[in-house]
Amino acid sequence: MKILVTGGAGFIGSHLCDLLLAKGHEVLCVDNLATGNKKNIVHIENDNFSFIRHNVTKPLYLEEKIDWIFHLASPASPIDYLELPIPTLKVGALGTHNMLGLAKEKNARFLLASTSEVYGDPLVNPQSEEYWGNVNPIGPRGVYDEAKRFAEAITMAYHRYHGVETRIVRIFNTYGPRMRLNDGRVVPNFIGQALNGEDLTVYGDGSQTRSFCYVSDEIEGIYRLMMSDYSDPMNIGNPEEHTVLEFAHFILKLTGKSSKIIFRELPEDDPKQRRPDITKARKILNWEPKVSLEEGIRNTIRYFEGVLDTQM
Ligand SMILES: NC(=O)c1ccc[n+]([C@@H]2O[C@H](COP(=O)([O-])OP(=O)(O)OC[C@H]3O[C@@H](n4cnc5c(N)ncnc54)[C@H](O)[C@@H]3O)[C@@H](O)[C@H]2O)c1
Repeated sequence: MKILVTGGAGFIGSHLCDLLLAKGHEVLCVDNLATGNKKNIVHIENDNFSFIRHNVTKPLYLEEKIDWIFHLASPASPIDYLELPIPTLKVGALGTHNMLGLAKEKNARFLLASTSEVYGDPLVNPQSEEYWGNVNPIGPRGVYDEAKRFAEAITMAYHRYHGVETRIVRIFNTYGPRMRLNDGRVVPNFIGQALNGEDLTVYGDGSQTRSFCYVSDEIEGIYRLMMSDYSDPMNIGNPEEHTVLEFAHFILKLTGKSSKIIFRELPEDDPKQRRPDITKARKILNWEPKVSLEEGIRNTIRYFEGVLDTQM
């Protein structure tokens, strides 16, 4: 099949390109490199792979047939979307509209990468797909959360009104190689600080919880969702929940470092808890995460050690 991946030069998108190529598909990666990097795809030496630098908030005209579109383009880390608030809103709204238009024209199946952020600071734990969320539309995170909520709404509208075959994955915190050390997310933050011999910064008292899914598990879930005939939103993430403080200690143990843990003020609208209910993914996709936190974090530490070595 010929598959378009928007955001394919980013963290999750580049792993998805690898998976699709390994399954024998032809992949067209479209990315404007706003938060991604060509380094993430430079290892790909495959005649079935091509790259177009393009901002998907502008229409994309393609001659060739396209069978599937995975729409992952969007700044994703809080640091990125706070620096790029309007591009984040535009890619969620205009970018998703353009890619749905392309899917309609090409009669292609379309998958939207949505997020657990649509649940905001959730009042129920774990979060099932039926929960409508607790989002502050005008808070700092609103640019990302509302862009993704709009993206879900327009995806369902194209499905219901135009009959486009659509899928919506609500991705929960995902980690692994090719994240950026300075992207502000908790996994690269802690690992980078530990490897550099710096204090680990915990926001608030560290009692807020997160659940972390290793990237190979995440993309397997995304691929299975695309293969399924399920058009309602589906959570894909790891339900194993840890407090941020526990996680900081875990990183110190696995890196063998003895940095101090220091506490800083909690950012506005930081969610207190995040944990996916993956009953649907288990039942419908026969999917659940396989990689243990220890194995995933060890792989990620190894990757960041390599990155830091080349920076020296
Ligand atoms: N990583 C996570 O934990 C997580 C959690 C929930 C949802 N997601 C979603 O998964 C997707 C990928 O996230 P990621 O962590 O790989 O982030 P990332 O920043 O590494 O990748 C996003 C990619 O989209 C590209 N992009 C941004 N705006 C674009 C535009 N207008 N046109 C073309 N390309 C554009 C960036 O250059 C980048 O390569 C995003 O849609 C994100 O919202 C990720």
